[in-house]
Order: sequence, then C-alpha cells, then structure tokens
Amino acid sequence: MLSVVVLISGTGSNLLALLKTIENPLVPVRVLAVGSDGAAAGLAHADFYGIPTFVVERGKFSDRESWGLRLQEIVESYNPDLVALAGFMKILPAKFVDRFSPNLINIHASMLPLFPGANAVRDTLAAGVTETGATIHVVDAGVDTGPIIEQRKVPVMPGDDIATLHERIKVHERDMLIQTIIGVAEKRIDLASI
Ligand code: GAR
Repeated sequence: MLSVVVLISGTGSNLLALLKTIENPLVPVRVLAVGSDGAAAGLAHADFYGIPTFVVERGKFSDRESWGLRLQEIVESYNPDLVALAGFMKILPAKFVDRFSPNLINIHASMLPLFPGANAVRDTLAAGVTETGATIHVVDAGVDTGPIIEQRKVPVMPGDDIATLHERIKVHERDMLIQTIIGVAEKRIDLASI
C-alpha cells in the first residue's frame, strides 16, 4: 500500500479523481491527508472522504523558509511514501524539496519546458500556439523543471478560452496523476530513476 499526502491550492478536481479511484479497495494507494496553502475549495473533497486536512498559510509566516518548514513538519508527521502536488500553486523551499524528492511529484498544465509557472494556460493562449499538453514530473529545486515522468499532447481549439483549454488539459492530468501513483505503488515506476 502506497501512502500519499496531497497538496492543493484550488478546486481539487485532480484530487477528487484520485480519491474516487482509490475507493476501489484493489487500488493499493491510501491518501493520508490533504494540505493547502489557503482556504482551497478542494479541501471539501477530503472532508467528504473523511481524510484529515491541514492549511499552512504563507501569509502567516515572515518568510518562505519558515512557512515551508511548518508545512514540512506537518507532512512528515504523516510519514507518507509520496507527496503529490495536485494544483499546489506556491513554490516550495529547497529544504522541503530536498526532504521529499524524488518522492515528490507535480502536475502541470503545459508541455514543459514550455509555459512553466502559475499561469500556464493563460500563457499558452497568449502565445497563439495550436498545440499544448499536460505534464507530470518529479519536483526538483527549480520551478517546473524536474525530471518528466509522462507528457501528453493536447490540441488548442479555435475559440478556446482559459476554462475550456484548461479542462481539456486536466482530463489528461487526472489520468496521468492516477496512473503515476498506481505505477509507483505497484513498483512499475521508480521515481528515483526517472
Ligand atoms: C492543474 O491544472 C495543475 O496543472 C495546475 O493547477 C491545476 C489544478 O487543478 N498546477 C499548476 O499550474 C502548478 N504549476 P484542480 O485544482 O482542478 O486539480
């Protein structure tokens, strides 16, 4: 059984897809807790499944390092095998990354290394490209730079806005997140050798 702590910042649709998948007792994955950097709507999904939640607000700490240390302490208290960033929109301090990587994965709404950062879908539309993608990767010390586990191409359609394109990308993000976590649980994916 692979134990996971999930960190989110937003609606948590990726988290919800994972929680629905692991309702099946044959899936060898357990979500121990879900954390956020603020009042994320997606925490309600964890509540629904009776999974503990925690919030560590960046604004309550004088610097990123002390915020990251508190977040690290709470995540460590669950002793997870894996930490999954599923729409977590804050940059984690190097100490946090060093502590958990390579057992620290992130989904991103573009074909990295194109369009890193917090506004990938907006930046993709602004660039006027006809194709983008979804990425799942191991987190390293950079921003959206870590070793890539899987990527999928996603078309940009005429008339797309941020919401329509993002949803088309998220369909793939959800599937890649679930397949990666199950792959790690079943030892078909070795994050240390990505
Ligand atoms: C996802 O599209 C994910 O790629 C993005 O936040 C969204 C969360 O969606 N994360 C990043 O851009 C991190 N750089 P959700 O809250 O519906 O799961």
